[in-house]
Amino acid sequence: MAQTIVIFGASGDLTSRKLIPALYSLFKKDKLTETLRIVGVSRSPFEHEEYRDSLRETTEKFTGSLFDSESWNAFAENLYYEPGDINEAKDFTELATFLKKIENGDKAGRLYYLSTMPQLYEKAIEQLGNAGLADDSDGFRRVIIEKPFGTDLATAEALNASIHRVFREDQIYRIDHYLGKETVQNIFALRFANSIFEPIWNRNYVDHVQITVAEEVVIGRRAGYYDKAGILRDMFQNHLLQLMMITAMEPPARYDASLVRDEKVKVLHSVRKMSGGDFASNTVRGQYKGYLQEEGVPPGSQTETYAALKLYCDNWRWKGVPFYLRSGKGMSCRTTQIVIQFRQAPHILFGHKTRTPVGNRLVIQVQPAEGIQLHFEAKVPESEMKTRTSTLDFDFNQAASGGMPDAYQRLLLDALLGDASLFARSDEVELAWGIVDPIDAAWRSPAAPPLFPYEVGLWGPPESNDWMAAQRREWFDVCPVLTKH
Ligand code: BG6
Repeated sequence: MAQTIVIFGASGDLTSRKLIPALYSLFKKDKLTETLRIVGVSRSPFEHEEYRDSLRETTEKFTGSLFDSESWNAFAENLYYEPGDINEAKDFTELATFLKKIENGDKAGRLYYLSTMPQLYEKAIEQLGNAGLADDSDGFRRVIIEKPFGTDLATAEALNASIHRVFREDQIYRIDHYLGKETVQNIFALRFANSIFEPIWNRNYVDHVQITVAEEVVIGRRAGYYDKAGILRDMFQNHLLQLMMITAMEPPARYDASLVRDEKVKVLHSVRKMSGGDFASNTVRGQYKGYLQEEGVPPGSQTETYAALKLYCDNWRWKGVPFYLRSGKGMSCRTTQIVIQFRQAPHILFGHKTRTPVGNRLVIQVQPAEGIQLHFEAKVPESEMKTRTSTLDFDFNQAASGGMPDAYQRLLLDALLGDASLFARSDEVELAWGIVDPIDAAWRSPAAPPLFPYEVGLWGPPESNDWMAAQRREWFDVCPVLTKH
């Protein structure tokens, strides 16, 4: 059955930088098994030809050596533009007629991508419903939305309720682009396609887990959004908790969307909610120096650009094992990594006079140096019986011919194929807000713990290191070494 993707917000940045390059790459790699038509919808008055031309240059730029004119022309034949305003009911009726026309009245599956401001999601979905565009008797009807899914639990519940008035949950694909990253999916493979890790992946062997998403960039021109959100809502409610779920979940019975998501949701159910003194003892918040001078930031803003949390999963596997989650803007380097810090060997025979071995460490490098390292103790050659830390290193890039695909390729393909394993379910989103909301409320209250300033280009506020040191632990502050391929 032919397929049609309708992109609302077609003249926006996401469409030209990510969506069209991803769709073109899938086309070029022959991954699209069916005829795919793409219809861009936005308020600007483009002709089809003009719209195609406007996307050619950016697609060439973002697909690099994959791009060639001949296949672009073939791809662009099925690229259309239909002007439309989300607030105008008649535009949706016209869209329905236009879709029927280009689909020649045949059955076709449709994917509606809302690449618009989140404030327009509810209206767009209501209009799709009113125009009969959600009716799936002539082929699938699916809708994709991107974070933020609400700004707290109450707004997320309201958003879910209004989407559910038009689409069933199995028709809704909520993108968290971290789940589209190859290395994040590789965590499933590492854990559940091997037999050596799972037996030690628990409280008996793991001392703690660190999940770091560090960004070198600062907020740039995003103050309007960012100052209201802060890093907790921008990164923790979604990306960091997603990484934690995949690291902590039980093996699902099958790799199937509902079973995978059931297991992820169980992790969120087990995360201990913070209350009382926890906000002071289990969180650190910071703001980079210079944030208040960024264009559009209100004077005296207390918005955090760095946060570290200590979370616990109260379940059999993880009881008592801290999960340290941290993220910051203006950090030392860009790196996303998950560190599984194993307990020390129970009895140290060697090297204890000179140093204390740190214990084995499994480092999953999500980006940009995609790979996995295992740190272990090995004998220093020619020493009496001294040991030092050595590393087994797996470079994921070497295994990928043609480089790592962008997350959107995988996510768009999965949505077309109807596989929702890598998309967030409504209960997942709401439970994640349930974890973040109390912290956010405490941080915005008069009794908020201090907001520590930090220098851009370091690893966040020094108080965060002190906090770890007080727990006899340390952050794994290592910038990955990028190898050229
Ligand atoms: C987005 C956040 O969801 O993720 C941004 O809104 C952040 O603030 C971005 O910069 C990070 O994504 P990536 O893929 O560059 O790590």
